[in-house]
This record gives sequence, structure tokens and C-alpha cells, in this order.
Amino acid sequence: KEIKIFCPGTIANISCGFDVMGVALDSVGDEMVIKKVATKGVKITELTGQHLPKDTHLNVAGVAGLALLAESDYDGGFEIKIHKKIKAGSGIGSSAASSSGAVWGMNKLLGNPFSKLQLVKFAMEGERLASGVAHADNVAPALFGGFTLIRSYEPLDIVQIPSPSQLFATVIHPQIEIKTSDSRKILKTSLSLEDGIKQWGNVGGLVAGLFMDDYDLISRSLVDHIVEPIRSMLIPGFDKIKSSAIESGALGCGISGSGPSIFALSQGKENAEKVRHSMKTVYQKIGIEYDVHVSPIN
Ligand code: HSE
Repeated sequence: KEIKIFCPGTIANISCGFDVMGVALDSVGDEMVIKKVATKGVKITELTGQHLPKDTHLNVAGVAGLALLAESDYDGGFEIKIHKKIKAGSGIGSSAASSSGAVWGMNKLLGNPFSKLQLVKFAMEGERLASGVAHADNVAPALFGGFTLIRSYEPLDIVQIPSPSQLFATVIHPQIEIKTSDSRKILKTSLSLEDGIKQWGNVGGLVAGLFMDDYDLISRSLVDHIVEPIRSMLIPGFDKIKSSAIESGALGCGISGSGPSIFALSQGKENAEKVRHSMKTVYQKIGIEYDVHVSPIN
């Protein structure tokens, strides 16, 4: 009647795939305990680690859970305890971890009546609450695991993409908070054909590289001509972090989701650790507080 789950952090966009690509981190995430109860509705009974609202309608896990209940014939409810390890506004899918964790756990306790695709739709309601836009590039990898591509939003079409076995992520979080809603407002709403051509070439290259275990192709494709030049202005030391990550052997480096976290992908744990070292050296030199993690990707 009660389960404890790990809710992974996620890197959305992965440079070239704004709103369509995402990947789950294996060793960075929150914990949730979900309990089936007779009382109708969803109640957040405990929330530790972050100052976030516990009111069901103001909490992403509550809203996502209610979306699931609205489609279910179950007439009881759920109590949820959320132990946040991911900071809100850090750029590694804090809201997605909570909303997808809630619906995954509830579905499990109900005997899995809903498909993963349906769970993504429910969890997207949490994202709508958090950022104003029901983007799926954090909740899809959180629910499916590994890399996912949102081939289409209308209708929702999600493609799971295999992860090359030696791929590791390094994620550094400068201790500032950027709201996804704010970092979306600064983006242009149109793009040139020239930029489009570069970008969809890279998205195709990234997907092909992941399927073929071709680390060079992955590396060549981790480029973003559209969003990164604008959003990176909000992130302290971005250019320095990026160039030091690449110099120390990363396959690529970019903004994690809407930032301010910066991610790098590397082939092998040793390389990912070198990248961790070079990134943190940059922030130590310029005096910026940070958190940094290396995580496998599976
Ligand atoms: N694709 C979204 C964005 C992800 O970049 O705004 C937010 O985590």
C-alpha cells in the first residue's frame, strides 16, 4: 500500500533539442513515499529539502496526481511525502522529478492501469503549473529513463533512445535560481531558416550518434545555435566553464534545461571526473558557489 521511489533529475534540451530531447540522470534525484489511502484526492503530507507549497493545487506532484485521478475509476486517494534533493530552479528538472514521481508511484499502486505515455501527459500538468508551458522534455526521460525524443506534442509521440554504455554526465550548478518561465520569456519566437537547418541537422546527428554508439558524432552534434547564445548570458562564467569542459575532454557542454546548471557529456567515468574537476576549478577561481555531480546515464 506504500512505496518509496527514486525520482531522477533530468537534463532537458541536450544542447540542440530545445523542448524535444531529454535524458535522465541515474544518481541525482529526489525521494518520494506514496501511500494509497481511502480518503479521496491527493495530499502532500511532508515536504523536506526545499521551501515549496504543500497545497495540492499549488504543488506540481499534487496537480499531476489530480490529473491522473481525474482519468481513473479509483475512488480513494493518495498521501505523498516528498524529500527534495534537487533544488528548485536549478535546471535539472526539479518539478519534473516530483510530478513524474507522483504519477509513476500512484500508477504502480493502482496496478499500472496507465501507459507511460499517459503518465507523461499527467506529469506535464505539473510542468504547466511550474513554468506555464506543458513541456515534456524533463518528464518523459524521468518516466521512460535514458534518452527520450518528443517527436511530436500534438499528438504526443515519445521515442525512447538507447544510451551508449560509456556515457556520463557532469552537471555543475552555480548557486543562483533561474525560473524556467523567466528564461523562456527572453527567447525569440521565430528563427531563421539558416539556424533551423543547423539545428535539425544536429538533432538528427545526436539521435543517430546515440543509436550507433558513435561518440564523435554525439560530440559534433552537441551544438545549439538558437537558445544557448541568449540564455547563457544569465549564467555566470558560462563560456569559461564550457571551454574548460571541452579542453578537458568533454564530448560537449551546454545549458541543462533552462539553466543555470551547465552539463557536459563525456565518454567514460574518468573523463567525466576530469571535466568535473576543470569545471569546479573555474568557479573556484571566479568565486562562484556551486554544486557539482557526475552521474551515469542508462
Ligand atoms: N525545454 C525546457 C526549456 C526545459 O528549456 O525551457 C526546462 O527544464
